[in-house]
Amino acid sequence: MINRRIFNLCKDSKKYIFLKVLTTWIALVCNISIIMIIGSGLEKVLQGSYLPSGSYALAVFALLTIRFICNIYSSKFSGLAAARAKYTLRQSIYQKLLRLGSEYVNSISTSNTIQIAVEGVEALDTYFSNYLPQLVYALLAPLTLFTALSFISVKVALILLISVPLIPISIIAVMRLAKKRFDNFWGSYTDLGHTFLENLQGLTTLKVYDIDHHRQQKMNDQAENFRKATMKVLSMQLNSINVMDLIAYGGAAAGIVFALLEFKAGLISPGALLVIILLSAEFFLPLRLLGSFFHVAMSGIAASDHIFRLLDLKEPNSNLEMSLPVPTSVLMTMQQVFFTYDQQREVLRDINLTINKGSFTALVGPSGSGKSTIAALILKFYRAERGEIRFHNRDIADLAPTVLAEKISLLAANSYIFGGTILNNLLMAKADATQTELARALQHARLAEFVEKLPDKMDTEVGEGGCLLSGGQRQRLALARVLLADRDFIIFDEATSNIDIESESQIWQAIQDLVGKKTILAITHRLRSIASADQIYVLDKGSIAESGNHQSLLSNGGVYAQLWLEQQALENIRK
Ligand SMILES: Nc1ncnc2c1ncn2[C@@H]1O[C@H](COP(=O)(O)OP(=O)(O)O)[C@@H](O)[C@H]1O
Ligand SMILES: [Mg+2]
Repeated sequence: MINRRIFNLCKDSKKYIFLKVLTTWIALVCNISIIMIIGSGLEKVLQGSYLPSGSYALAVFALLTIRFICNIYSSKFSGLAAARAKYTLRQSIYQKLLRLGSEYVNSISTSNTIQIAVEGVEALDTYFSNYLPQLVYALLAPLTLFTALSFISVKVALILLISVPLIPISIIAVMRLAKKRFDNFWGSYTDLGHTFLENLQGLTTLKVYDIDHHRQQKMNDQAENFRKATMKVLSMQLNSINVMDLIAYGGAAAGIVFALLEFKAGLISPGALLVIILLSAEFFLPLRLLGSFFHVAMSGIAASDHIFRLLDLKEPNSNLEMSLPVPTSVLMTMQQVFFTYDQQREVLRDINLTINKGSFTALVGPSGSGKSTIAALILKFYRAERGEIRFHNRDIADLAPTVLAEKISLLAANSYIFGGTILNNLLMAKADATQTELARALQHARLAEFVEKLPDKMDTEVGEGGCLLSGGQRQRLALARVLLADRDFIIFDEATSNIDIESESQIWQAIQDLVGKKTILAITHRLRSIASADQIYVLDKGSIAESGNHQSLLSNGGVYAQLWLEQQALENIRK
């Protein structure tokens, strides 16, 4: 009934939960006292004795005031308990995501993360604000009432007290059923969220292929599943509340019937009877309320499973080295590296490669052979399954991602350009860039002439995702950004795919300008562009098939030579 882990995680809330129970309990004691005063007043009136009405009214008024204040504070404390807990949970999730870094995508989808952090945490609101305090109060209240009523009639007090546990028994009975239904509910909710986000991100593609109807149908189906799961949860909640009502009011009725019998037998006075009638329902109401909170709290507990699954994800080494490695002549090595995305299909097998400082290295091979995966491993977007990747002779597993980011940059195909101006996009790479540096980067990226002709120059808005620029201009702007960042090691991963021929050759010229000044890793399937590289690695189906420079690879007569001949033939046809 109590999830110890959540409770312990949200230590700050304990104090407020205690205060909430205390204030609710004081309010109950006031209530009992008021009813007892009224009962004894009635007694006095019936006996015809003198009634000190002034002091009675004063006492009732004072108790009502205390009860009123307690009720206000009680709801204030329950709000605070929930707010503290939600804050702590969101902080934990946020910190966890920071520690996971970019690797989080390996283990959990973005839509799932968002749902967990927003709705998942929100679902625990009732758990802290109402359920936990009520759990304690529901034990305390019947005992308090029992003590009070036992002064009037021990028998009736006992009957009421004994019927009280029927409510938790009925709660436990529905608990098993509830757990499964809540799991279903959360499962279908995250499914729907995932499809929704994916459809939104791929809307253009769906429209292009005119298959948005199909995807809409899928989303409708999932929405329908979600609706059904929600309805099941709601109907269960409603039905179990009916059962609890039956027990609560039935129990109170039994107590009242017994009190009437005792009254008839002359064992209790009319005033005592009134007190019993007014208080008997109070025995059951706290537990009944607990029952209704219980279902909402269960939804929170189901959500907490998802929260803990996220919090329990294995983290990369936390004692990461923050200092920059001492430069060595070998900039990067991969030693017997193996990698898989899904633990099933090996994407990289026994990769060994060496990138010397200041060299021009190329990685070529057919599409899907694992070239981009190698770049991702170098940048620590993923972790190698086996083997070692060393940067300046230091295992990158021990280096903080920021250290690598300070030394390495990547220009991939379709680089992202942010909404805003050309200048904003450039300054991302170097916030304090001078005018000279900016101009030089644009010049180098063969973009200066274009920018010069714009009326607003560098202050020109590029639109969301750079939509006001052509593909080639976008990519050259991204190149200028990379050049401005001025990292030692630059990886170009198919940097000229999907753009016009002119931009393509301009970008290759820009890369050639860097040769000798920077360490370059060029990934491409177009061999002609990298024929001058110092070292070429040919990747085939996840392994390095051969390596060497252009001449030696040609004379090898292997995969490279064959690819070269094919591409030459293709170029000849084009000409
Ligand atoms: N995020 C991913 N999850 C699962 N498999 C992937 C992922 N990215 C790439 N792959 C698979 O890994 C293989 C290598 O992909 P990639 O490195 O992108 O190839 P290349 O860049 O050489 O075209 C491909 O078979 C691809 O399907
Ligand atoms: Mg690729």
